Amino acid sequence: MNFRNFIFCAIDFTDIEQSKRLISKIQKYVGGIKIGLEFFSRNGPSGFLEIKKLGIPIFLDLKLKDIPNTVKKSAQNLINLKPDYLSIHLSGGLKMVEEVVSIKKNTKILGISMLTSLDNSDLKSFGYNLSNLDYVENLAKIGEKAGIDGLVSSAEEIPHLKRNLNNTNMLFVTPGIRLYKNKMNDQKRINSPGQAIKNGSKMLIIGRSITQSSDPINSIKCILQDIEKHYEHKN
Ligand code: C5P
Repeated sequence: MNFRNFIFCAIDFTDIEQSKRLISKIQKYVGGIKIGLEFFSRNGPSGFLEIKKLGIPIFLDLKLKDIPNTVKKSAQNLINLKPDYLSIHLSGGLKMVEEVVSIKKNTKILGISMLTSLDNSDLKSFGYNLSNLDYVENLAKIGEKAGIDGLVSSAEEIPHLKRNLNNTNMLFVTPGIRLYKNKMNDQKRINSPGQAIKNGSKMLIIGRSITQSSDPINSIKCILQDIEKHYEHKN
């Protein structure tokens, strides 16, 4: 079992050279990288294509959300860049999600459910009287109906979603991963790498635990050890 394929490192840098340096360093030890708003808002499509030349699987995490027509046209521009994965917010609604799925070609569409930086008190402040679990399940069902390939949620929700979704091939993608509970930063719903894998995650999105580390490769090795330990328990 090659556990490194579970790890996608979030390259949350503005500077392209800094991004390239880190990617070259960790490339052998991870399954892919994630490029998000911080990188893309500075370096744009040409920056993305420069990173693509490094030959590593890329998740383009721009979390699109707007009216269906606007999102479809923007997603088309992004799909033309051939990212391996592209994210959209499921809260954009069924029609918006269906429009993107209809043009996806070889790019896998990942639906964002509830950001891991939010918790139940945020839902209440939006006026939703739902548990995290019910809110995520509702959004997951919209995604499933529209035909998304994967679902982004916290690891806590995965066992429930596995029981309640019909698509057994749904790719569960998990941000908010921390080896140590005291390093939460702005995340609220966090899990350890091993716990997330045990719950059924197939893709761990890990940013600062690697990118801010004084020894990124050693941090990846610790993450791999944690995965291995829990994976043995799972099987
Ligand atoms: O540094 P950290 O490991 O918290 O980074 C998590 C990454 O995952 C960030 O790039 C963030 O944008 C992304 N993400 C998230 N919550 C989601 C979806 C994506 O934190 N629901």
